[in-house]
Amino acid sequence: MSGTSLDGVDTALVEFDADGGTRVVAAQTTPLPEPLHAQMHAIINEHKPCELPQLGALDMQLGTVYAETALQLLTHAGIDASAVTAIGCHGQTIHHAPDGEHPFTLQIGDANRIAAITGITTVADFRRRDMAFGGQGAPLACGFHAAIFSADDEDRVVLNLGGISNITVLNRNQEVRGFDCGPANALLDAWIKQHNNATYDKEGAWAAGGAVDQELLTRLLADEYFERSPPKSTGKEHFSLGWLTGHLLNLAIPPNPQDVQSTLAELTVTTIAADIRRYAGSCRRCIVAGGGAHNSDLLERLTRQLEPVVVQSSEHFGVSPDFVEAAAFAWLASRTLAGEPGNVPTVTGAQRSTILGAIYRA
Ligand SMILES: Nc1ncnc2c1ncn2[C@@H]1O[C@H](COP(=O)(O)OP(=O)(O)O)[C@@H](O)[C@H]1O
Ligand SMILES: [Mg+2]
Repeated sequence: MSGTSLDGVDTALVEFDADGGTRVVAAQTTPLPEPLHAQMHAIINEHKPCELPQLGALDMQLGTVYAETALQLLTHAGIDASAVTAIGCHGQTIHHAPDGEHPFTLQIGDANRIAAITGITTVADFRRRDMAFGGQGAPLACGFHAAIFSADDEDRVVLNLGGISNITVLNRNQEVRGFDCGPANALLDAWIKQHNNATYDKEGAWAAGGAVDQELLTRLLADEYFERSPPKSTGKEHFSLGWLTGHLLNLAIPPNPQDVQSTLAELTVTTIAADIRRYAGSCRRCIVAGGGAHNSDLLERLTRQLEPVVVQSSEHFGVSPDFVEAAAFAWLASRTLAGEPGNVPTVTGAQRSTILGAIYRA
Protein backbone atom coordinates (compact mmCIF):
# COMPACT_ATOMS: atom_id res chain seq x y z
CA MET A 1 0.00 0.00 0.00
CA SER A 2 1.23 3.47 -0.76
CA GLY A 3 -1.17 6.29 -0.03
CA THR A 4 -1.34 9.85 -1.23
CA SER A 5 0.81 11.08 1.68
CA LEU A 6 3.76 9.54 -0.22
CA ASP A 7 5.41 8.74 3.13
CA GLY A 8 6.42 5.31 1.85
CA VAL A 9 5.34 1.86 0.78
CA ASP A 10 3.68 -0.11 3.59
CA THR A 11 4.26 -3.83 3.17
CA ALA A 12 2.52 -6.33 5.45
CA LEU A 13 2.75 -10.11 5.49
CA VAL A 14 -0.63 -11.31 6.70
CA GLU A 15 -1.83 -14.76 7.70
CA PHE A 16 -5.54 -15.62 7.41
CA ASP A 17 -6.95 -18.64 9.24
CA ALA A 18 -9.79 -20.65 7.81
CA ASP A 19 -11.95 -19.42 10.72
CA GLY A 20 -11.39 -15.73 9.88
CA GLY A 21 -8.46 -15.11 12.24
CA THR A 22 -6.06 -12.48 10.92
CA ARG A 23 -2.45 -11.95 11.99
CA VAL A 24 0.14 -9.48 10.71
CA VAL A 25 3.28 -11.64 10.74
CA ALA A 26 5.77 -8.99 9.59
CA ALA A 27 5.57 -5.44 8.27
CA GLN A 28 7.71 -2.53 7.19
CA THR A 29 7.50 0.92 5.62
CA THR A 30 10.02 1.72 2.90
CA PRO A 31 10.44 5.31 1.66
CA LEU A 32 9.85 5.83 -2.07
CA PRO A 33 13.28 6.24 -3.71
CA GLU A 34 14.25 9.55 -5.30
CA PRO A 35 13.65 10.71 -8.00
CA LEU A 36 10.43 8.61 -8.01
CA HIS A 37 9.19 10.38 -4.89
CA ALA A 38 9.88 13.84 -6.35
CA GLN A 39 7.99 13.00 -9.54
CA MET A 40 5.00 11.61 -7.65
CA HIS A 41 5.02 14.67 -5.38
CA ALA A 42 4.93 17.00 -8.40
CA ILE A 43 1.98 15.14 -9.95
CA ILE A 44 -0.08 14.46 -6.81
CA ASN A 45 0.62 17.51 -4.63
CA GLU A 46 1.52 20.20 -7.13
CA HIS A 47 -0.85 18.98 -9.86
CA LYS A 48 1.92 19.26 -12.46
CA PRO A 49 1.10 17.87 -15.91
CA CYS A 50 2.35 14.34 -16.64
CA GLU A 51 3.25 13.30 -20.20
CA LEU A 52 2.49 9.76 -21.37
CA PRO A 53 6.15 8.61 -21.52
CA GLN A 54 6.61 9.77 -17.90
CA LEU A 55 3.40 7.99 -16.83
CA GLY A 56 4.51 4.76 -18.47
CA ALA A 57 7.97 4.94 -16.92
CA LEU A 58 6.55 5.68 -13.45
CA ASP A 59 4.11 2.76 -13.74
CA MET A 60 6.99 0.42 -14.55
CA GLN A 61 9.36 1.78 -11.87
CA LEU A 62 6.71 1.66 -9.14
CA GLY A 63 5.95 -1.95 -10.04
CA THR A 64 9.63 -2.75 -9.53
CA VAL A 65 9.71 -0.88 -6.18
CA TYR A 66 6.62 -2.73 -4.93
CA ALA A 67 8.15 -6.07 -5.94
CA GLU A 68 11.44 -5.26 -4.22
CA THR A 69 9.76 -4.14 -0.98
CA ALA A 70 7.76 -7.36 -0.89
CA LEU A 71 10.91 -9.45 -1.39
CA GLN A 72 12.81 -7.42 1.28
CA LEU A 73 10.05 -8.07 3.80
CA LEU A 74 10.14 -11.80 3.09
CA THR A 75 13.92 -11.81 3.54
CA HIS A 76 13.59 -10.00 6.91
CA ALA A 77 10.87 -12.37 8.02
CA GLY A 78 12.86 -15.41 6.85
CA ILE A 79 9.97 -16.65 4.74
CA ASP A 80 10.26 -18.10 1.25
CA ALA A 81 8.23 -16.55 -1.59
CA SER A 82 6.77 -19.99 -2.31
CA ALA A 83 4.97 -19.82 1.08
CA VAL A 84 3.02 -16.72 0.02
CA THR A 85 -0.33 -17.26 -1.72
CA ALA A 86 -0.59 -13.79 -3.21
CA ILE A 87 0.36 -10.13 -3.13
CA GLY A 88 -2.49 -7.63 -2.97
CA CYS A 89 -1.22 -4.37 -4.40
CA HIS A 90 -3.31 -1.20 -4.26
CA GLY A 91 -0.84 0.78 -6.39
CA GLN A 92 -0.29 4.53 -6.20
CA THR A 93 -3.34 6.69 -6.82
CA ILE A 94 -2.35 9.50 -9.12
CA HIS A 95 -5.88 10.73 -9.80
CA HIS A 96 -9.23 9.98 -8.17
CA ALA A 97 -12.25 11.61 -9.81
CA PRO A 98 -15.38 9.63 -8.87
CA ASP A 99 -17.95 12.37 -9.54
CA GLY A 100 -17.14 13.91 -12.93
CA GLU A 101 -18.91 13.40 -16.25
CA HIS A 102 -16.56 10.46 -16.88
CA PRO A 103 -15.80 9.08 -13.40
CA PHE A 104 -12.44 7.37 -13.08
CA THR A 105 -9.72 6.50 -10.63
CA LEU A 106 -6.15 5.78 -11.66
CA GLN A 107 -3.63 3.68 -9.73
CA ILE A 108 -0.22 2.84 -11.17
CA GLY A 109 2.53 0.30 -10.34
CA ASP A 110 2.62 -2.43 -12.98
CA ALA A 111 1.36 -5.66 -11.39
CA ASN A 112 2.78 -7.74 -14.30
CA ARG A 113 6.19 -6.70 -13.11
CA ILE A 114 5.40 -7.51 -9.46
CA ALA A 115 4.33 -11.04 -10.41
CA ALA A 116 7.34 -11.47 -12.74
CA ILE A 117 9.96 -10.27 -10.23
CA THR A 118 8.55 -11.95 -7.11
CA GLY A 119 7.17 -15.11 -8.71
CA ILE A 120 4.08 -14.52 -6.54
CA THR A 121 0.53 -14.27 -7.90
CA THR A 122 -0.47 -10.61 -7.67
CA VAL A 123 -3.91 -9.06 -7.36
CA ALA A 124 -4.23 -5.38 -8.30
CA ASP A 125 -6.55 -2.72 -9.77
CA PHE A 126 -9.11 -3.08 -6.97
CA ARG A 127 -11.03 0.14 -7.32
CA ARG A 128 -12.21 0.22 -10.92
CA ARG A 129 -14.64 -2.71 -10.84
CA ASP A 130 -16.58 -0.98 -8.09
CA MET A 131 -16.64 2.18 -10.20
CA ALA A 132 -17.80 0.16 -13.21
CA PHE A 133 -20.88 -0.63 -11.11
CA GLY A 134 -21.45 3.05 -10.39
CA GLY A 135 -19.58 3.15 -7.07
CA GLN A 136 -17.04 5.63 -5.75
CA GLY A 137 -14.31 2.95 -5.87
CA ALA A 138 -13.60 4.05 -2.28
CA PRO A 139 -13.24 3.52 0.58
CA LEU A 140 -12.42 -0.17 0.15
CA ALA A 141 -11.00 -1.04 3.58
CA CYS A 142 -14.46 -1.06 5.22
CA GLY A 143 -15.13 -4.77 4.68
CA PHE A 144 -11.82 -5.60 6.35
CA HIS A 145 -12.53 -3.19 9.21
CA ALA A 146 -15.86 -4.96 9.74
CA ALA A 147 -14.17 -8.37 9.68
CA ILE A 148 -11.57 -7.56 12.33
CA PHE A 149 -12.85 -4.66 14.47
CA SER A 150 -16.59 -5.40 14.92
CA ALA A 151 -17.84 -6.32 18.40
CA ASP A 152 -20.97 -8.11 19.64
CA ASP A 153 -21.29 -5.95 22.74
CA GLU A 154 -20.86 -2.38 21.43
CA ASP A 155 -21.20 -0.20 18.35
CA ARG A 156 -17.86 1.02 17.01
CA VAL A 157 -16.40 3.30 14.42
CA VAL A 158 -13.04 2.84 12.68
CA LEU A 159 -11.26 6.05 11.69
CA ASN A 160 -8.43 6.07 9.16
CA LEU A 161 -6.23 9.16 9.38
CA GLY A 162 -4.29 9.02 6.11
CA GLY A 163 -3.85 11.89 3.68
CA ILE A 164 -7.66 11.95 3.72
CA SER A 165 -9.80 10.78 6.67
CA ASN A 166 -12.41 8.08 6.32
CA ILE A 167 -14.71 6.32 8.76
CA THR A 168 -16.28 2.86 8.87
CA VAL A 169 -19.45 2.62 10.96
CA LEU A 170 -19.74 -0.76 12.68
CA ASN A 171 -23.19 -0.74 14.27
CA ARG A 172 -24.60 -4.05 15.47
CA ASN A 173 -27.69 -5.09 13.47
CA GLN A 174 -26.95 -2.64 10.66
CA GLU A 175 -25.15 -2.84 7.35
CA VAL A 176 -21.62 -1.47 7.31
CA ARG A 177 -21.40 2.14 6.23
CA GLY A 178 -18.38 4.31 5.54
CA PHE A 179 -17.08 7.25 3.53
CA ASP A 180 -14.30 9.83 3.27
CA CYS A 181 -14.83 12.64 5.80
CA GLY A 182 -12.33 15.15 4.39
CA PRO A 183 -8.70 16.27 4.53
CA ALA A 184 -6.42 14.94 7.30
CA ASN A 185 -2.63 14.68 6.90
CA ALA A 186 -2.81 15.94 3.29
CA LEU A 187 -3.19 19.59 4.32
CA LEU A 188 -1.23 19.32 7.60
CA ASP A 189 1.75 17.94 5.65
CA ALA A 190 1.46 20.44 2.81
CA TRP A 191 1.27 23.48 5.11
CA ILE A 192 4.18 22.55 7.37
CA LYS A 193 6.26 21.73 4.30
CA GLN A 194 5.59 25.15 2.83
CA HIS A 195 6.42 27.03 6.06
CA ASN A 196 8.92 24.93 8.03
CA ASN A 197 10.20 22.66 5.25
CA ALA A 198 9.29 19.62 7.41
CA THR A 199 7.66 16.55 5.83
CA TYR A 200 5.06 16.34 8.61
CA ASP A 201 4.07 17.88 11.96
CA LYS A 202 5.58 15.38 14.40
CA GLU A 203 3.06 14.50 17.16
CA GLY A 204 1.14 17.57 15.93
CA ALA A 205 3.40 19.73 18.15
CA TRP A 206 3.35 22.76 15.82
CA ALA A 207 -0.46 22.68 15.56
CA ALA A 208 -0.79 22.21 19.32
CA GLY A 209 1.22 25.37 19.98
CA GLY A 210 -1.00 27.57 17.79
CA ALA A 211 -4.51 28.97 18.16
CA VAL A 212 -7.54 28.11 16.01
CA ASP A 213 -8.65 30.99 13.76
CA GLN A 214 -12.44 30.79 13.99
CA GLU A 215 -13.11 32.82 10.87
CA LEU A 216 -10.83 30.64 8.74
CA LEU A 217 -12.33 27.50 10.28
CA THR A 218 -15.87 28.66 9.47
CA ARG A 219 -14.89 29.38 5.87
CA LEU A 220 -13.19 25.99 5.43
CA LEU A 221 -16.14 24.16 7.01
CA ALA A 222 -18.49 25.80 4.49
CA ASP A 223 -17.06 23.59 1.70
CA GLU A 224 -19.86 21.76 -0.10
CA TYR A 225 -18.15 18.35 0.37
CA PHE A 226 -18.74 18.25 4.15
CA GLU A 227 -22.51 18.66 3.80
CA ARG A 228 -22.92 16.16 0.98
CA SER A 229 -24.53 12.83 1.93
CA PRO A 230 -22.56 9.60 1.47
CA PRO A 231 -21.57 7.66 -0.56
CA LYS A 232 -18.74 10.08 -1.19
CA SER A 233 -14.97 10.04 -1.54
CA THR A 234 -12.38 12.71 -2.10
CA GLY A 235 -8.67 13.35 -2.46
CA LYS A 236 -5.91 15.88 -2.90
CA GLU A 237 -7.47 16.82 -6.24
CA HIS A 238 -10.00 18.82 -4.21
CA PHE A 239 -8.41 19.42 -0.77
CA SER A 240 -5.15 20.93 -2.00
CA LEU A 241 -2.88 23.76 -0.88
CA GLY A 242 -4.60 25.82 -3.61
CA TRP A 243 -7.97 25.21 -1.90
CA LEU A 244 -6.56 26.45 1.42
CA THR A 245 -4.76 29.43 -0.13
CA GLY A 246 -7.97 30.51 -1.87
CA HIS A 247 -9.72 30.72 1.52
CA LEU A 248 -6.78 32.50 3.17
CA LEU A 249 -6.83 35.21 0.48
CA ASN A 250 -10.43 36.00 1.42
CA LEU A 251 -9.55 36.86 5.01
CA ALA A 252 -9.11 40.53 5.98
CA ILE A 253 -6.41 39.61 8.54
CA PRO A 254 -4.58 36.41 7.58
CA PRO A 255 -3.58 34.29 10.61
CA ASN A 256 0.08 33.46 11.23
CA PRO A 257 1.28 30.14 9.77
CA GLN A 258 1.21 28.27 13.09
CA ASP A 259 -2.41 29.31 13.70
CA VAL A 260 -3.28 28.05 10.22
CA GLN A 261 -1.79 24.66 11.15
CA SER A 262 -3.86 24.65 14.34
CA THR A 263 -6.96 25.52 12.33
CA LEU A 264 -6.26 22.67 9.89
CA ALA A 265 -5.98 20.22 12.80
CA GLU A 266 -9.27 21.53 14.19
CA LEU A 267 -10.89 21.27 10.72
CA THR A 268 -9.77 17.64 10.50
CA VAL A 269 -11.32 16.60 13.81
CA THR A 270 -14.40 18.84 13.56
CA THR A 271 -15.47 17.27 10.26
CA ILE A 272 -14.79 13.76 11.56
CA ALA A 273 -16.62 14.34 14.86
CA ALA A 274 -19.62 15.84 13.03
CA ASP A 275 -19.77 12.78 10.74
CA ILE A 276 -19.47 10.38 13.67
CA ARG A 277 -22.26 12.15 15.58
CA ARG A 278 -24.45 12.11 12.47
CA TYR A 279 -23.78 8.60 11.15
CA ALA A 280 -22.41 6.69 14.14
CA GLY A 281 -24.20 8.35 17.04
CA SER A 282 -24.44 5.12 19.06
CA CYS A 283 -20.73 4.22 18.88
CA ARG A 284 -18.87 3.69 22.17
CA ARG A 285 -15.38 3.33 20.74
CA CYS A 286 -13.42 4.97 17.92
CA ILE A 287 -10.53 2.81 16.67
CA VAL A 288 -7.91 4.93 14.92
CA ALA A 289 -5.62 3.71 12.11
CA GLY A 290 -3.31 5.43 9.61
CA GLY A 291 -0.23 7.55 10.19
CA GLY A 292 -2.36 10.20 11.93
CA ALA A 293 -2.84 7.76 14.83
CA HIS A 294 0.67 8.89 15.90
CA ASN A 295 -0.41 12.54 15.97
CA SER A 296 -1.18 13.05 19.67
CA ASP A 297 -2.55 16.56 19.06
CA LEU A 298 -5.17 15.19 16.63
CA LEU A 299 -6.10 12.39 19.04
CA GLU A 300 -6.47 14.82 21.97
CA ARG A 301 -8.68 17.13 19.93
CA LEU A 302 -10.75 14.14 18.81
CA THR A 303 -11.09 12.77 22.34
CA ARG A 304 -12.34 16.20 23.53
CA GLN A 305 -14.88 16.52 20.71
CA LEU A 306 -16.17 12.94 20.90
CA GLU A 307 -16.38 12.51 24.68
CA PRO A 308 -17.55 10.09 26.15
CA VAL A 309 -16.58 7.91 23.14
CA VAL A 310 -13.28 6.08 23.82
CA VAL A 311 -10.64 6.98 21.20
CA GLN A 312 -7.95 4.29 20.80
CA SER A 313 -5.22 3.35 18.35
CA SER A 314 -5.75 0.11 16.42
CA GLU A 315 -2.59 -1.05 18.22
CA HIS A 316 -4.87 -1.93 21.18
CA PHE A 317 -6.59 -4.46 18.90
CA GLY A 318 -3.41 -6.14 17.71
CA VAL A 319 -2.82 -4.31 14.42
CA SER A 320 -0.38 -1.40 14.15
CA PRO A 321 -2.13 1.68 12.73
CA ASP A 322 0.60 1.86 10.08
CA PHE A 323 -0.41 -1.47 8.55
CA VAL A 324 -4.22 -1.66 8.75
CA GLU A 325 -4.59 -0.35 5.19
CA ALA A 326 -1.89 -2.69 3.82
CA ALA A 327 -3.48 -5.65 5.64
CA ALA A 328 -6.83 -4.62 4.15
CA PHE A 329 -5.45 -5.09 0.64
CA ALA A 330 -4.04 -8.51 1.58
CA TRP A 331 -7.56 -9.36 2.78
CA LEU A 332 -9.10 -7.99 -0.44
CA ALA A 333 -6.67 -10.10 -2.49
CA SER A 334 -7.71 -13.20 -0.54
CA ARG A 335 -11.36 -12.38 -1.29
CA THR A 336 -10.61 -11.98 -4.99
CA LEU A 337 -8.80 -15.34 -5.17
CA ALA A 338 -11.67 -16.99 -3.30
CA GLY A 339 -14.16 -15.51 -5.77
CA GLU A 340 -15.78 -13.44 -3.02
CA PRO A 341 -16.89 -9.81 -3.36
CA GLY A 342 -14.65 -7.16 -1.78
CA ASN A 343 -16.66 -3.97 -2.02
CA VAL A 344 -19.45 -2.93 0.35
CA PRO A 345 -22.20 -1.36 -1.79
CA THR A 346 -23.66 0.53 1.21
CA VAL A 347 -20.24 2.21 1.45
CA THR A 348 -19.22 2.86 -2.15
CA GLY A 349 -22.69 3.26 -3.63
CA ALA A 350 -22.06 0.57 -6.26
CA GLN A 351 -25.18 -1.09 -7.71
CA ARG A 352 -24.05 -4.45 -6.34
CA SER A 353 -21.31 -6.26 -4.51
CA THR A 354 -18.65 -7.57 -6.85
CA ILE A 355 -15.34 -9.40 -7.04
CA LEU A 356 -12.64 -6.73 -7.21
CA GLY A 357 -9.34 -6.55 -9.02
CA ALA A 358 -7.40 -8.44 -11.64
CA ILE A 359 -5.28 -11.53 -11.01
CA TYR A 360 -1.74 -11.74 -12.44
CA ARG A 361 -0.85 -15.41 -12.01
CA ALA A 362 2.73 -16.26 -11.13
N1 LIG B 1 4.63 10.71 14.65
C1 LIG B 1 3.76 11.33 13.85
N2 LIG B 1 3.24 12.53 14.20
C2 LIG B 1 2.36 13.18 13.40
N3 LIG B 1 1.97 12.72 12.20
C3 LIG B 1 2.44 11.53 11.78
C4 LIG B 1 3.36 10.77 12.57
N4 LIG B 1 3.65 9.62 11.89
C5 LIG B 1 2.95 9.69 10.72
N5 LIG B 1 2.25 10.82 10.65
C6 LIG B 1 1.39 11.30 9.53
O1 LIG B 1 0.88 10.20 8.83
C7 LIG B 1 1.08 10.40 7.42
C8 LIG B 1 1.12 9.07 6.72
O2 LIG B 1 -0.10 8.42 6.99
P1 LIG B 1 -0.63 7.23 6.08
O3 LIG B 1 -1.68 6.55 6.84
O4 LIG B 1 0.53 6.44 5.59
O5 LIG B 1 -1.30 8.04 4.89
P2 LIG B 1 -1.41 7.66 3.35
O6 LIG B 1 -2.32 6.48 3.29
O7 LIG B 1 -1.96 8.90 2.70
O8 LIG B 1 0.00 7.33 2.90
C9 LIG B 1 2.33 11.22 7.34
O9 LIG B 1 2.42 11.94 6.11
C10 LIG B 1 2.17 12.14 8.55
O10 LIG B 1 1.38 13.25 8.22
MG1 LIG C 1 1.33 6.07 3.71
